Amino acid sequence: MRVLGLETSCDETGVALYDSEQGLLADALFSQIDLHRGYGGVVPELASRDHLKRLLPLIRQVLDKAKTSPADLHGIAYTAGPGLVGALLVGASCGKALAMAWGIPALGVHHMEGHLLAPMLEAAPPSFPCIALLVSGGHTQLVRIDAIGRYQLLGESLDDAAGEAFDKTAKLLGLNYPGGPEIARLALRGNLGRFVFPRPMTDRPGLDMSFSGLKTFTLNTWQNCVSAGDNSEQTRCDIALAFQQAVVETLAIKCQRALQQSGLKHLLIAGGVSANAALRERLAAMLQKTGGQVFYARPEFCTDNGAMIAYAGCQRLLAGQREDLKINVRARWPL
Ligand code: KG4
Ligand code: ZN
Repeated sequence: MRVLGLETSCDETGVALYDSEQGLLADALFSQIDLHRGYGGVVPELASRDHLKRLLPLIRQVLDKAKTSPADLHGIAYTAGPGLVGALLVGASCGKALAMAWGIPALGVHHMEGHLLAPMLEAAPPSFPCIALLVSGGHTQLVRIDAIGRYQLLGESLDDAAGEAFDKTAKLLGLNYPGGPEIARLALRGNLGRFVFPRPMTDRPGLDMSFSGLKTFTLNTWQNCVSAGDNSEQTRCDIALAFQQAVVETLAIKCQRALQQSGLKHLLIAGGVSANAALRERLAAMLQKTGGQVFYARPEFCTDNGAMIAYAGCQRLLAGQREDLKINVRARWPL
């Protein structure tokens, strides 16, 4: 089965072609980051308009790259939520219209299921059951995956998502959007141990998390330094490292707890924050000690992309899932 995937939930227009026999055939992405940078975050109306402009040319590009004509397609998968409603509507209406014109089914895919399954696109994919840490700009969740489509929520952030905390902290330090990669870049030049940040909610049992306090802790630390006359680049790097360490350590403690409780040895990490090298290294070292293994997608498939939607949609279409032509997107949608 050959499926075209469309991702338009936020600020990236992603298109890809996945074949259940041959794997990923082609993918293309247009990132709107430059468009939104001046505003310090995503402007929903600008996002929708830009998806509208980019989507059809990207579809043409992907079909050409894979030397595939619409007659060779068996379905279209589009992101139906969660996300920005206007942006989602662009992908959904385009997917449904093309599917109707080409006489094939179109299926709405859950954006977070797309992220969860992105590591399946790699050469050595995880096997199920496993524990998954989903860390993006909107979600931070620990999930047990028993099979594709069988997900059990074990714990989640009670306030900010980890990616949101990276973005907000970066903004406090005067860094660009999106903040995750900026903090990671500065952290490389940071002095370990100059600042020590708390590891929220690790001293009590359970798998829920909280990241909004770390943002306040960063603000106070930075303001104290500035009032003392130190607003140097080195201090910014030292704070970035302390913040990143606190997030990574907190996530690692919660992952270890989830693995211990479930008796499972495989951990999958997905979503934009799973591109963070410090997080990958920390989890890989932790799992190596216990004979386990950590799985993640290549960096460009950790953040939003069309390939994960094409893959997730293909699995659901293969399982026989279909929907009518009604266009239905959801800004909020539990996994
Ligand atoms: O999964 P994603 O592309 O979009 C959502 O579905 O939210 O995740 C975007 C988030 C942003 O908050 C961004 O700052 C964060 O992922 N991110 C990172 C890194 N790359 C992206 N956070 C930490 N380190 C990174 N290298
Ligand atoms: Zn995402």
